[in-house]
Amino acid sequence: MAKLYVTRRDGTQVELDGTTDGRSIMEVLRDQDIDVEAVCGGCCSCATCHVFVDDAWLTQLPERGDDETELVESTEHFHGDHSRLSCQIPFSDDLDGLKLTVAPEE
Ligand code: FES
Repeated sequence: MAKLYVTRRDGTQVELDGTTDGRSIMEVLRDQDIDVEAVCGGCCSCATCHVFVDDAWLTQLPERGDDETELVESTEHFHGDHSRLSCQIPFSDDLDGLKLTVAPEE
């Protein structure tokens, strides 16, 4: 188990326990009913799992792939390096304490 600190769309902050068994951050959020719709189920084609990653964690995440970059840059609320699709980030023990904010609904 590792911790995830999330600011929800309504501004409230929650602390989540997430298993690090290969699931993505999107799956951790979705399984605990935290705002992400994840319409495409994690196939990198909907952007409804868009999150903003806290400054301190930007360099500790795997780099965005080309598909993720193209999709996230097309969103209304794109926020530079902070914008990530949570379905493309495996949750691991290395990310224990990760802080993120769920992006506004498109
Ligand atoms: S769940 Fe669709 S892009 Fe992440």
